[in-house]
Amino acid sequence: MKRREFLFGSGAAASVMGLGGLSLAAGDPAQELVLQSASYRLLDQLTTGMVSLSPDAPPPVLYGQQGEAMRLTVRNTLPDYTAMHWHGLRIPNEMDGVPYLTQMPIGEDESFVYEFTPPDAGTYWYHPHCMTMDQMAHGLTGVMVIAEPEDSGFDGEQVINLRDFRLDEDGAFLPAYTARGAARAGTFGNVQTANWQSEAIYDHAAGSLVRLRVVNTDTTRIYKLHLEEAEARIIAWDGHPVEIDVSMPTAAEPLLMGPGQRVDFALRMPDDEGQSAALVGKFPGQKHRAMAQLRATGQSIARDLRELRPLNSNPAARPDLNQAELHEFVFGWTPEGGAPNDGFCGSLGYSFWSINRTPWPGDAVQGTGPLAVLERGKSYVLRLRNESPNLHPIHLHGLAFVPLKSNLRKLPPLVTDTVLMLKDEIIDIALVADNPGDWAFHCHVIEHQKTGLAGFIRVV
Ligand code: C2O
Ligand code: CU
Ligand code: CU
Repeated sequence: MKRREFLFGSGAAASVMGLGGLSLAAGDPAQELVLQSASYRLLDQLTTGMVSLSPDAPPPVLYGQQGEAMRLTVRNTLPDYTAMHWHGLRIPNEMDGVPYLTQMPIGEDESFVYEFTPPDAGTYWYHPHCMTMDQMAHGLTGVMVIAEPEDSGFDGEQVINLRDFRLDEDGAFLPAYTARGAARAGTFGNVQTANWQSEAIYDHAAGSLVRLRVVNTDTTRIYKLHLEEAEARIIAWDGHPVEIDVSMPTAAEPLLMGPGQRVDFALRMPDDEGQSAALVGKFPGQKHRAMAQLRATGQSIARDLRELRPLNSNPAARPDLNQAELHEFVFGWTPEGGAPNDGFCGSLGYSFWSINRTPWPGDAVQGTGPLAVLERGKSYVLRLRNESPNLHPIHLHGLAFVPLKSNLRKLPPLVTDTVLMLKDEIIDIALVADNPGDWAFHCHVIEHQKTGLAGFIRVV
């Protein structure tokens, strides 16, 4: 079986051939990301068989600058294939890291050079899109921070990468997925972490202004979050600055954050040394639990949230609703289980889900999609209909969109790349199709994605 045979057609083939991306590693070692197995003390014992970018630490936060070129060489030392995706970045299609759709999988001892210039500032993240379940569940999910060119006025910054692991009491991995879970809400981890810590505590100056970047990189869990002992407001959502006043979540009405989503808070640290602000999660069958604490140190520097100027908006085009053509998408069960065909990128072995009644039976499948063909530069409304009782964080690569309305609730007008769909919800989103290419469009519950709830949208 030759890897090139999985390509989608001549258009995709031409763009993949043109990449020269399978060249061997070279370049700045600081920019080289080496996929390797790792060990870490998640519980009392060492958990082995993790996947990270160093042997004994979580995947690092990658920093870039809005409008400045980045060059990230991904080198794979694992026997399994991979491909790296930069979630939320509106970059050229051939750098998007989706196997068979935008590039060939990266084999053992192979490298791929990702070069792009992030157009937007904000909080993003990276994860593999090949062997997705396997590599993500074992640890390979990292945060990307794209800084704005101007100083945004904070004294400090705290990145929180939220994710679960599914371990037995000796810290050994349990199977990451189950058929039962994949067909329903997904299979949940049982060890909840922030930056791989069960009880993360970070020190920041008392009375200082901290930009708290919270990212849900879990394969399954929709976190229910709020802050305690903190004066704070939400300043960005899924990377993009929030231009309206959104209410702060509370214990009674927590923030629902689906896999793939990010929220940035401007937070003022407590004034008294030793006092902590807490990011608190609510888990089924448990009390509220602090996922991470920010502990005040030293004498208060007495900053005020009102000293912060609003963030500049990102240059994402706003759709023209008068001109927008409508496309509809139905997310639900699959009518018949198509045979999974994942090439070198792993299969869970089932098809349970579908988009527009067609399951995407694997990364390497041919003849499925595109789900829609959009004309470059035009505005579109996509009507998303969840016909299932389960929640789905629906994610579109390469384009930013604006949620317009829902049949169940009022949606704030945000700019985003991932929208959480509730049971039986119908959401209209709008976008400008301004980035050409084949853009993956899928649920970010990985068991749903990998058992059919996936496809792609073509912008020509
Ligand atoms: Cu964060 Cu297609 O993924
Ligand atoms: Cu993505
Ligand atoms: Cu889903």
